[in-house]
Formats: sequence, C-alpha cells, structure tokens
Amino acid sequence: MEAMDYDTEKPSKSNKKAIIWSVILTTLIVGTACVLATYFLHPDYGNTTPPDSEPVSKEPPTQGPPLEEIYRVECLPGQFPSEEQCLAKGCLYGETTVEGVPWCHFPENYGAYRMVGSREDRPWGFQVRLQRIEGVPSQFGGDIDSVILAVEYQTTNRLHFKFYDPGNQRFEVPLSMPGTPESQPSNPNYEVRMTENPFSLRIIRKATGTVLWDTSFGAFTFADQFLSISTKLPSSNVYGFGEHEHSSFRHDLNWRTWGMFSRDQPPSDGANLYGVHPFYMSLEEDTKAHGVFLLNSNAQEVSLQPTPALTYRTIGGVLDFYMFLGPTPENVVQQYTEAIGRPYLPPYWALGFQLCKYDYGDLDTVKEVVASMRQYDIPHDIQYGDIDYMLRQLDFTVNPDTYDGLGEFVKQIKEEGTRYIIILDPAIAANETTGSYPPYDEGVRDNVFLTKSNGDIMFGKVWPDYPDLPGGTCPYEEWEEAVENCRAYAAMPDFRKPATREWWTRHIVDFHDNQVEFDGIWIDMNEPASFVHGSVNGCGDNKYDNPAFKPRIWGPVLADKTMCMNAISYVTDSQPDLQYNMHSLYGWSQTLPSLEAAREAVGDKKRSFVVTRSTYPGSGRYAGHWLGDNTSRWRDMGMSIIGMMDFSLFGMSYTGADICGFFQDTTEALCRRWHQLGAFYPYSRNHNTINVAPQHPAVFGEDFALEVADVLRIRYRLLPFLYTLMAEAHIVGSTVVRPLMHEFTSDSVTWDLDRQFLWGPSLMVSPVLDEGHVELNMYVPKGPWYDYYTGAMVNRNVEQTWVTVPTPEDTINLHVRGGYIIPTQQPANSTMWSRSKPFGLIVALDSVDYASGNLFWDDGETVSTYENEEYYMVEFNAEKGSLRSTITHPHDTLVNDLVLDDIHIWGVSDNINTVILNGVTLEESKWDFDTTKRVFTLSDLNQPMKTDFILTWT
Ligand code: GLC
Repeated sequence: MEAMDYDTEKPSKSNKKAIIWSVILTTLIVGTACVLATYFLHPDYGNTTPPDSEPVSKEPPTQGPPLEEIYRVECLPGQFPSEEQCLAKGCLYGETTVEGVPWCHFPENYGAYRMVGSREDRPWGFQVRLQRIEGVPSQFGGDIDSVILAVEYQTTNRLHFKFYDPGNQRFEVPLSMPGTPESQPSNPNYEVRMTENPFSLRIIRKATGTVLWDTSFGAFTFADQFLSISTKLPSSNVYGFGEHEHSSFRHDLNWRTWGMFSRDQPPSDGANLYGVHPFYMSLEEDTKAHGVFLLNSNAQEVSLQPTPALTYRTIGGVLDFYMFLGPTPENVVQQYTEAIGRPYLPPYWALGFQLCKYDYGDLDTVKEVVASMRQYDIPHDIQYGDIDYMLRQLDFTVNPDTYDGLGEFVKQIKEEGTRYIIILDPAIAANETTGSYPPYDEGVRDNVFLTKSNGDIMFGKVWPDYPDLPGGTCPYEEWEEAVENCRAYAAMPDFRKPATREWWTRHIVDFHDNQVEFDGIWIDMNEPASFVHGSVNGCGDNKYDNPAFKPRIWGPVLADKTMCMNAISYVTDSQPDLQYNMHSLYGWSQTLPSLEAAREAVGDKKRSFVVTRSTYPGSGRYAGHWLGDNTSRWRDMGMSIIGMMDFSLFGMSYTGADICGFFQDTTEALCRRWHQLGAFYPYSRNHNTINVAPQHPAVFGEDFALEVADVLRIRYRLLPFLYTLMAEAHIVGSTVVRPLMHEFTSDSVTWDLDRQFLWGPSLMVSPVLDEGHVELNMYVPKGPWYDYYTGAMVNRNVEQTWVTVPTPEDTINLHVRGGYIIPTQQPANSTMWSRSKPFGLIVALDSVDYASGNLFWDDGETVSTYENEEYYMVEFNAEKGSLRSTITHPHDTLVNDLVLDDIHIWGVSDNINTVILNGVTLEESKWDFDTTKRVFTLSDLNQPMKTDFILTWT
C-alpha cells in the first residue's frame, strides 16, 4: 500500500554527456567492425567454418588491459568489492566517475565455461556440453561443473535454447510452452554459432546477417544460486521487461538495472512491481524486430548498458530462452503469444466504463454514487465492491452493519445494466472462532495453505482484522502498530494444489449463490502481499531467504512484504517446492482457478471476468490487469500509456490504470484529462483509495459529469471496433493498445513515441498529459489522417510531421488513419442497451480512395465463441466510388435484429451526384457531401447486418 523511497541510480547530466560521446565513438568503431564481421562471417560469403561452431584459441583466457567503460560488465554485482577482492576473482578494477559504470568488471575474453566433446545433432537441433574451466574463481560459490545447452529449432521464427544441469533436476517454470518439435523447420530465419573456449553463443538473423545475440561478453555463469549471461545487442532500441514504472517506452540503456520479482509495490522509479515479465523486444538498426523471453521465475535482474548490451542475473532455475524473429514488432508479439498463450477475450460488458472506490463506507454511499451516474446518464457498466464490503476484510463475508442488502442492490443494478465485481484477496483470516469461518476451517481440513517445512501453516498478515477489536475497528493509525495489534494471522492458499482449487471454487460459488450475485472477480494482493516480512515468526536462517547474491529488487530481504522463501509451495499437483522458486508465479497460479470458479458461479457458460494485480507470462490468457496503486499526479497519468504498451508486448491486451489516480486527492483538472485518456484504456476504471476525496465522474458537478459522459459515449460508439481488436488479439495475438512504432516502424521518430498511442492499426489517441495545457504538440505519421470529430483530413500532401493542435479542456485528440474502416454503434449508458442499437461505419480513405476494415460480433458473453464458431464476422472494403460488405462468417441469430444506419466516408476525391445502395438510388435526404472537407455522410440506411450490401456513388 504505502510508497517507500529507496535509492536508485541515475547518472548526472555531465556524466550523461560523456557517455553519449563515448557511445557515439564506440558505436562508429564497433558498427564498422560489425559490418565487416557480418560480411565475412555470413554463410553466403565464403565462410568455411562448420555451420554451428567457430574454432578459437584453446588457451585459457588472459587478462588484457582495462576495458573501455561501455564494455564493462559488472563482476561481483551488488558486492562493492575492494580492488583486492575484485582482482582475486580474476576481474579488473578501474574507478570511474560515471555513475552506473562498474568498477569491478570482467576482463575481455573472460569465460568460466568451455565446450567439451562434439556437438550432438538431434532431429530438433543439437546439444553441446559445457565444462567449467579449472581455476576460474567462483563469483558466489555453488558453481555447476557440467552444463548442457540444448538448442531447439522450433519453427522458422522461433528458436528455443536452454542451459541446464544434466546431473540435477533443477526447478523449471510450470508454464506450458510449445513442446520439442519432431523435426527442424527446413529453412529457419536464424543461425546459431558458438565458440568453444571460452564458450560463447551467437544468434544471427540469416536474411541480414545481423547478430541478434552475442554472449562473448561478460561472463556466462551457472551456479546453484547465481546464473548469469550477458549479450551484446544489435541496437539501442530495447522495449519491454516488467513489471516496472518506465519513464519511456524505449529503454534507457544508461546503466540501468531492473529487478524482477513480484512485489506489492506501488509504481515507483526503479522498483520491481506486482508482476514479472522477462521479455524484451529489440528493433534492429534496419527496423527488423525480434523478441527474447527468459522463462525463469526466480528473483532476477537485467542490467542494460550503452554498449549496447544486457546482462541477466537470476538466483535459481535454469536459463531457458525463447527467441522470436518477427520481423515486424506485431509479428514478434504474435509469435510470443503463440508460445505463451493468446490474450483472453473479455465479455463485451467488460469494455464498458467501471467504477470503484476503496471504502465507500457503506452501501448507501454506493447507492448515491450509482444514482448520480444515472442522473447525468454517464455510461456505467461495472460497479465494484472493494474490501470494505466485507466484514473485517474477511473474504466471502458481507459486513452486516454497513452493507446489509448488498445482494438485493446488486440484483437491481444488474437489471438496469450495471454489473458487479467483487474483490477477493488470497489471504484467509485465521483467528476466527473455530466453526464460524468455514473458508479457514475447511482450508485447514483440506490442507490448502502454504506451509513451513514441518507442515504447519505459515502465517502472514494482510487486511483481515482480529475478531475482537474494541468497537470493531482498529484504533491505531500508525501502520506498524495497526499491523501488530489489529491485523489477524493470515494463511495463503496454494493454488497449484487441486484441493485448493476445489476449496476456492466451492466458496466462490457459495458466496455467489447465497450472498451476492457478482459477475466477475478482482484478485488483488496476490504477489502474495503480506504486511509482515516473511511470516509472523520470521523465516529463520536459510540459504533461500539469504542467498549470497540478491538481485536488485526492493526491500532488504527477498521476503520483504511477502512470505518466506522457504515456504512449501507446490509446483504441480504432487510436487512440493519452495516460494523461492514459485513466488513470482503466485498471482499467475491464482488466475485460472479464479476464472474457472467465477465461470462456475455465474453459470450458463458465461465468460465472466478476472482482473489480477500480479501477472507472469501467460496471465493474459485468463485475465486483465490494471497498473496498480498509482498516484493522482500528471506524471502517473502519462506513464499509464507506457504501462499499457509494455503489457501489449507481454501479451495482455485488457489493461488500464486507475483513472484520476489511486493515492492522494485528485484535482478536477487532472481528473477531467484522465477520464479523456481513460476512455481509451481497454480496461477503463476510475478507482481510488481510502481516506481520499471521492473522484467519481459526478462528484465535480454537472458540467464535468456531462463532459465525462460525452467522452465515454465516444468510447461506447467505438466499442464494436475495440471488441473486434480484442477478438483479433485473442485469435492472432495482435496488440490492441499499439505503440505507433508497431505501425510506422521505418519512421524512427515513432521509436520514442509514448505519449500517443493507437487502437489497433488505425485510431490514434493523443491526449493532453500536462497540467494547464490547451494545445498539444502531436506527431502525425505518414497519412492521410482524419480528425475524428469532423472527418477533415489533417495532413493532406504531407509526409509525417509534428503539428500543434488546439486541445480545449473538454477535448481529446482522436484521428483515424486513411485506409481503414472502423465499425461503430450508437452509444447508450450501458452495453446492455448499446449492443442492440444501429451500427455505423467510419470509412477513412487513403490517397487512392481505398479502405478496409472488419467487425467481429458474438453474444458478448458466452465462452469460446470463436473456437466454437458462434460468431459473426463481416469485412468492409471501399474503393473509388464504392463500399461493400462481405459477411465472411455468417451467424444470423446474432445479428437478426441489427441494422447499419450511418456511414461516414472521409477523403472522397470526386464529387457526388448519385448514390446507390444495393441497386436502388438513395433519396437525397439520406446523404450529404461536404465538398470542402470531402466528407460524405449517409444516415437512416436501415441496412440489415445479416445481408451483404453494395454502396456506390458517382
Ligand atoms: C490494494 C489494491 C487497491 C485496493 C486496495 C484495497 O492496494 O491495489 O486497488 O483498493 O488494496 O483492497
């Protein structure tokens, strides 16, 4: 909950300059060398070495002179060794004034492993054995002598390579990834080469010769609790790694280290946040893109440096990598989600506007808030219950004093078109009188909780209060005192156990059937968070809680704000392991069981909904994610765009941040702008914390409320388009919130754009993110582009350009890209009503009067409609003088009563005299052509959606 300040490393301005100059010079030198090397080593240019290995000197590495600073890779990270200690490890020592540059670093051509024996070819690729070189000092102890590298050529664009210990079964993340192929693809787009002594690996994009990975840099280490590998990178364009607050979408390679370990941590610069995503995308100099995923869940860090290069350091598991060759950024995400699982398709109603607050206080206040939304006709599809609906924050209870009648209220608002979502935290209160709290008693009986090694439950503390507080409330304001005196012992379910999943489902279904008929579940605090460090009794001295190397994650110990690393935690149904390995998978492991339980509760094969705080690769298959406990500040609003873009890379398309900010009182001006931006979050929820001023859209008075209603009506008008994009993400893995760089990859300006974004390929959202600004310096990539509000073209006859656009307080800039057709529907204050309204089309023509688009439609709530072919799909194509629809997947019952009423065609070059729809000339009252703006508008068409149409104009 509370934000904490830790020191983070940031270079000073003068140091930055020095780095920039050394980067430029080195880039020139290295660049030339690379081009030459690439030329000579490329197989097409007479390379005579065997395809997968290059002979190098068998002599042990010798220490050379100190390395130029940008080539330094840190030796003994986090130890701050003296010169003597550093040299004793076989490393070099060199003081520098540049912040972030390591003083103790590996010498050039350093290596701890060499290849032994010959390469063993396999149908799926090959494997080699690596042997630790004798005499090389150990970094942190526990080095493993013999390591296997298995290289699987999985598909033309997917390479899998894994370093593991053949002598010991080490922990492996239980994520179901594509299996070993029976044979290799005939002509993969990559090539793998190695050097023998010291061992290094290079991965090359065959088509261009670009070296994507080169580990002949830094040191490859494979020890029990310290595994590390460094690679040079082909460019400085690196995106991804999470979950963090990034101040730019493109990474700053200026000696930044990012820890990854799930943590109950509000977004803060340099902190490891709720989820873990060891995935990055790199845009090579020639704009081809590739992605790399490290399938590892242990506490880890990645250091980025301006070489450009990166170093992974993790304290357990194996080094299991997947590389995706793209070559476009969208291809990379599609290939990544093909491997980890495509994003989940939320129900249609989940795309509506959502409202929440921690501690409304009582049901009457919730009723007033909902009534005020109705008063101003503000779209409102989802209302939440945060932990204050519960009795003393106990899961599966309703506070009888403050929330009496909640069940009835939920039934009523559902009839009016507003759904209800409940929060459920994993922590289960343990101090209730025996027999009075079945979730705990049955949990003990069924053995569902994380335990100590002796089998006793390991207790933490989270929200639930002791049952016997005087007056029923906690009298302490000071956090530590409140935790000690008011917070009950809490047990953490182990969701990997089948018994836990049954227990969880049973209580969820029971709560739904007997107390509150919720529609979906918000799973929170699932890092898992704890307000005591480790457990109520600490963790004891053990190698898991106190490893020799601690990656740069926040908190003095790994168990800071969470459970002990030596807690027993199941990997599979029957295989016990430790939180040390499973910690960052906790939220992920809770997600599918929660979705399945919610589905069982709501019944009728309804999709239901889960939104989760802690995520891991693959979480997108089952849930959405909000960006956590942000603060009501302008900077936080801006950074929410980067957060969503990061999650687009991570294969999660249903994302957004708390609109108007979670911590602190918001301001009217910030909240107005934030609703404008939040109207374009796929997950669009206004939420804030306890003891701060209310910030729901109706609280700032009528003008504000009507403005919010207006911008949300734009959202609702565009929902068929958003839903189609979500369906495409689910089907082919494309992104929904799309960085401009994904569409305009060859335009280098877009590589750094993170204050504007796209929905899919075609709707550009350019919000005002600065206080007091009423105009915006906006980038318009190669067009044409049309103003959403008027249909006027904004960049006729120009290539990409920056423009300053007036953006009054009540406006957000929206532009539609020429060449695309966007399906729309008349809005209403809930999707329950908007879904039956007439459709429309925005047809934005490109420079040759062409455009296309599509619409995916289903009943909006049944599971697996795409997989079961219970959907309708129609394509729209415009050419000079015509627009036609082609139903590519008919489904009459879904669209029987639906019509298309209005069409807006923008950028029409020729004048219009006659308009014909399906062979019949259209009355003039139904169309209009603005010859100045070149905007052609048709209305009242009443064209049934279940049949194709042809519209022509001359
Ligand atoms: C956590 C959540 C926040 C929620 C609060 C109370 O801080 O991130 O969204 O309101 O807990 O449940």
